[in-house]
Amino acid sequence: MKIVHVVGARPNLMKVAPLIEALAKEAESRGRHVEQLLVHTGQHYTPELSKLLFDELGLPKPDINLNVGSGSHGAQTGRVMIAFEEVLRDNRPDRMLVVGDVNSTIACALDAAKLGIPIVHVEAGLRSFDRSMPEEINRILTDQISDWLFTTEEGARDNLLREGIDDKRIHFVGNVMIDTLLKHRDAALARRTQERFGLSAGKYGVVTLHRPSNVDDACGLKSLIAVLVRVSQQLPLLWPLHPRTKYQIEQFGLQSLLSKGCVKLVDSLGYLDFICCTANARMVLTDSGGVQEETTILGVPCITMRENTERPVTVSQGTNMLSGTNPEAIWRAFNDHPHMHSAERRVPRYWDGKAAERIARILLD
Ligand code: UD1
Repeated sequence: MKIVHVVGARPNLMKVAPLIEALAKEAESRGRHVEQLLVHTGQHYTPELSKLLFDELGLPKPDINLNVGSGSHGAQTGRVMIAFEEVLRDNRPDRMLVVGDVNSTIACALDAAKLGIPIVHVEAGLRSFDRSMPEEINRILTDQISDWLFTTEEGARDNLLREGIDDKRIHFVGNVMIDTLLKHRDAALARRTQERFGLSAGKYGVVTLHRPSNVDDACGLKSLIAVLVRVSQQLPLLWPLHPRTKYQIEQFGLQSLLSKGCVKLVDSLGYLDFICCTANARMVLTDSGGVQEETTILGVPCITMRENTERPVTVSQGTNMLSGTNPEAIWRAFNDHPHMHSAERRVPRYWDGKAAERIARILLD
């Protein structure tokens, strides 16, 4: 069997790493050979968002890099489609595997569907029910044309069935992002990264923010920064800046506002340093999807500064609380977070470090 894996943006890397490893092991144990080809679309290209994580996660060097870079949604998706179609024509894989919901995911899935190459979608069925979010469009469309849909939480099956997807194509296997987290947690903690920033475990918060809806509008970003500054006067904050956010803060001239609080701004961190800082934090404030899942497993209270989440299990079972983006609501969430004084939480089913093994077994059966 020949399988092409696609990565494009940072969160794809943590998802594909355990899959490549599990497929190789499962094939070996069955005395079979699986040829795995790794294609990087180049959607993310700066070292902190790409190369550094390849090294840390032990991912093989991509066999092919499409170097598409940044651009508008149409331009970026189109460039991936043009370049990836050629990869599929040249290699004719038996399966094409995509993860998550980024532009590279839908672009490559569309190519494969039109060439009749079976599509595997890992992290299928998540829905925010907010179509103004680019990722929601990518999720719905990728799921419609996928042949194997591997889900991370139980509600995802209902979402897919509602959209008319055949139950036989859906497999609830758990969360490959958590496979990676559990594998690297000890090595990450040993780095004591927070000390490098002059912070002590349990005495600071971590912020991440990069959704276009939060950072591309000057007024919205300003009011989020104002409430973060207010929070930081009680709990110092470490804020690794996504390139998009860094750019917007500079464009909108918001640096001086940030200097009023106790907010330490740093460039995007590598995977291990980020996990270390998150695991040792008193609280995390974020708009990321993956961080909601990681904090659930690390047992760190998380405030998600969005109106909705496509990962509801992190709220119903984990440590996540949706605050919305209103500054007063974020302030209230900071003061009343149910997990600040209680360790009570459940680990979602199958978030046990074995999701990739389950996927490999199903694909090779
Ligand atoms: C993308 C994904 C988002 C994911 C996020 C993780 C889509 C629609 N969005 O958003 O779901 O949560 O990745 O980070 O696919 N840039 C760099 N270096 C890079 C890449 C980008 O500096 O390596 C800058 C560019 O100026 C670019 C901006 O960041 O315009 C945004 O990058 P882009 O790939 O468009 O989307 P993200 O916001 O990263």
